[in-house]
Amino acid sequence: MVVKQAVFAGSSQRVTQKPERLLPEMAFIGRSNVGKSSLINMLCAKKGLAHTSSTPGKTLLVNHFLVNDKWYLVDLPGYGYARISKSGREKLEKIINDYLVRSAELVNLFVLLDSRLDIQKIDLDFMLELGAQGIPFSIVYTKCDKLGVNALQAQIDKNNQTLLQYWEQLPPVFRSSSESGLGREEILGYIEQILNTL
Ligand code: GTP
Ligand code: MG
Repeated sequence: MVVKQAVFAGSSQRVTQKPERLLPEMAFIGRSNVGKSSLINMLCAKKGLAHTSSTPGKTLLVNHFLVNDKWYLVDLPGYGYARISKSGREKLEKIINDYLVRSAELVNLFVLLDSRLDIQKIDLDFMLELGAQGIPFSIVYTKCDKLGVNALQAQIDKNNQTLLQYWEQLPPVFRSSSESGLGREEILGYIEQILNTL
């Protein structure tokens, strides 16, 4: 798919406040700082479209970006950000949950995992909850530029084994780098394929 146009369409805390024009949504979630906003910018080839930061906790609202006037990329706040108050964290969890449970237009959620790490408990718990709620998801490994080819393959193999202890089949798995553009064609192609089935 060619991204001809990508524009910011609004920020919200509740599904009732999201952009009025209802279109299919592809959302991005993962731990704080995993690279959600950077990946959205990479997919749209537009630096600065979604705001990024080297410190966690940058995205605190649900942000909709209208692509090709046909569908939305949705940037979500990160989960698991430890260095905020309990009430702040609960507020973020509420925003994420409200979106995931009540957004009827959500057609696929990309769960982002740091390619350098073993699967963390918080990610596993989150994905198990998605399974329980029947929310379809795929996995995107981020920051793949930070590992050599062999180390990357070994880490992904290890993580796949972990996932297969909980699921009979793996969801679609993508490798990405917002620095090099790795994964752009594959992820956009996958999105196009989903949109074509709607
Ligand atoms: P929150 O909004 O705080 O939840 O974070 P986020 O998941 O949106 O992360 P963000 O895109 O803001 O990126 C966090 C940091 O990781 C930034 O310093 C990015 O430059 C860096 N980063 C993101 N993706 C990549 C990548 O593919 N490669 C490298 N080397 N750095 C990356
Ligand atoms: Mg962000």
